[in-house]
Amino acid sequence: MTNKATVDFDQHGPEYAQNWQEQLAEMRAKCPVAWTDAHEGFWVITKYEDIVHIERNPDIFSCDNDIEGVRGGGRGIRIPRNPFRFSLNESDPPEHTALRKLEAPYFTMDALQKWMELARELVDEQIDSIIEKGEGDLIHDITIPVPARVTLRLVGVPQEQWQDFMASSLNAYLPPNHPDYPLEQRMRIAERLEGLMDERKSNPTDDVISTLMHAQINGESLPRATAKGMLLSLLFGGFDTTAATAANALHWLEKHPEMHQRLIEDDKFLEKAVDEFLRYFPPVMGGLSRNVTRDTELRGQKLKKGDRVLLMFNSGNYDEERFECPADIRLDRANARQNLAFGAGPHRCLGSVLGMAEVGIMIRAVLKRLPDYRIDHERARKVPSMGLANSWLAMPFSFTPGKRLKP
Ligand code: HEM
Repeated sequence: MTNKATVDFDQHGPEYAQNWQEQLAEMRAKCPVAWTDAHEGFWVITKYEDIVHIERNPDIFSCDNDIEGVRGGGRGIRIPRNPFRFSLNESDPPEHTALRKLEAPYFTMDALQKWMELARELVDEQIDSIIEKGEGDLIHDITIPVPARVTLRLVGVPQEQWQDFMASSLNAYLPPNHPDYPLEQRMRIAERLEGLMDERKSNPTDDVISTLMHAQINGESLPRATAKGMLLSLLFGGFDTTAATAANALHWLEKHPEMHQRLIEDDKFLEKAVDEFLRYFPPVMGGLSRNVTRDTELRGQKLKKGDRVLLMFNSGNYDEERFECPADIRLDRANARQNLAFGAGPHRCLGSVLGMAEVGIMIRAVLKRLPDYRIDHERARKVPSMGLANSWLAMPFSFTPGKRLKP
């Protein structure tokens, strides 16, 4: 008979925001599977190996967000719970497998060439918009608009609307039940999406909206609510994560100019460096959860049917048993790609290759075109809670003015 390991842990609280590395290191060492009473109670999972085990066993650890209460009551992948179902992320096989197949063609190596080309064009355009002034904001002028505009194009939302998405994404670090959570903005975006879905139903183009509006599973049209949930998860998952990684990388690189030339010239080194940035600065800091479908045991702890587990990807990335000296950034770390920033198992991020490419494209363009950039650290502002993303609200910066590439 084992005692239930219990901790005082809240991923949305101020202590976690300030001391997450220490908190998680202590839990990895003393109680890697531990119960907290926060947010109606859940198990916190901090070891790399356990996170991967849970991700690979969706029959025991389900993602389902059963909003209508008709499939067993799963509470989805976020704690507190999402107010609507992100259908792809919050479904289990075989439904998940079928849904994922619908979006997969947008992420093949061939398709990615097109999005990477677009990202290169957009980063040049964004830099052009500030380069003559000698100042700007890394977040507002570069790291958010580039991935936001690529994602909107891929999904099929007019690119001019990226500012709305940025406003919504900057506040999305809050838990969905927080009074300042951008619920209204998100609802507005969702409403606009409805209009686009109707339009593409009659006039399909080459975007994800069109594909989903004409998709069939087992001979039946994809339910509209499912399509909408998939679109929302692409829209809200596809760029704040990418933006956060690029912002943290550029923040770190400002202090390490000795790395710049190699990152500009050496593709392989840039790729490895992006892996290491993702390991060291994983954007999804508040973890994602799973719902226990039958009684089971993990490291001697008894998990009951109906319990929730929270997978701390950032803790896995700092697990000493997997990564040597995890608190050091080593841009040439041999196993950095094993990081859990994109999760693992059947739900591993579908946009991972695109996300990594976009981060690399932004780093290279900034180092090349604004080589002496200086961040105004006094005015730079990080998000106050780590509950969702390890990201920045503002990062004003200056540099020697240069020439636009296009008039
Ligand atoms: C650095 C950038 C990114 C990071 C760190 C990231 C992280 C994640 C994580 C942690 C998950 C959940 C995985 C799990 O449950 O095991 C996920 C899922 C997903 N991501 Fe990303 N993501 C990034 C960029 C993108 C981009 C650019 C797109 C598309 C435009 C995208 C689309 C998706 C989709 C569709 C899923 C759901 C996959 C599924 O449930 O099968 N992500 N991502």
